[in-house]
Amino acid sequence: MQEIPLSEATRLIYPRVTVLVTSAGLDRKPNAAPYSWIAPVSFSPPMLYLGIQKRETQTVKNIRATGEFVVNVVTKDWAAQAVACEAKIPDKVERSGLRFRESKKVKAPTAEKAEIALECKLHEIIETGKADHYLVIGEIVHAEKDEKIKNSEIVMHLLGADFISPGKKFTLERKK
Ligand SMILES: Cc1cc2nc3c(=O)[nH]c(=O)nc-3n(C[C@H](O)[C@H](O)[C@H](O)COP(=O)(O)O)c2cc1C
Repeated sequence: MQEIPLSEATRLIYPRVTVLVTSAGLDRKPNAAPYSWIAPVSFSPPMLYLGIQKRETQTVKNIRATGEFVVNVVTKDWAAQAVACEAKIPDKVERSGLRFRESKKVKAPTAEKAEIALECKLHEIIETGKADHYLVIGEIVHAEKDEKIKNSEIVMHLLGADFISPGKKFTLERKK
């Protein structure tokens, strides 16, 4: 085993599912940004968290203002467009060519191409002390999945510009 510098330690938690977080400001202007620090935190009620860096991203501003966001799982055919929404320019969303549709339970938009979409209402933003990311916890108030989605199309983030999709499925016996 090779020792890894602590500055690289969190990068060893990979691959992580890549999502596009869609939100809107009070002016209803849609915003979208890719995130991969995401995980579930509660079955009942269903909740998830996002780890979002402590510069005030547009995503955090919108979530603070409206209390709503949508987590769209990214698949291969629109992954480049989703990743383009990382850009720190005001018209990044228009430039990406992504389109949005109305969500069912929140005013934040859903990405039209999303095959899994989780509509969330803000539960809590944990400021996390000396950590450099907020924990944004959302309660999932509506969940949608296109049954035709293929696992092999889901885009996982490795590191930097590297991504991978799930390979062959296998099964393990679990003790109850
Ligand atoms: C694949 C990918 C995953 C990312 N994951 C995260 C993440 O989990 N947390 C984070 O704070 N930023 C993440 N980023 C960077 C944000 O997308 C970036 O800060 C973006 O400019 C935020 O946009 P916003 O200001 O519209 O919210 C990721 C970028 C990419 C390309």
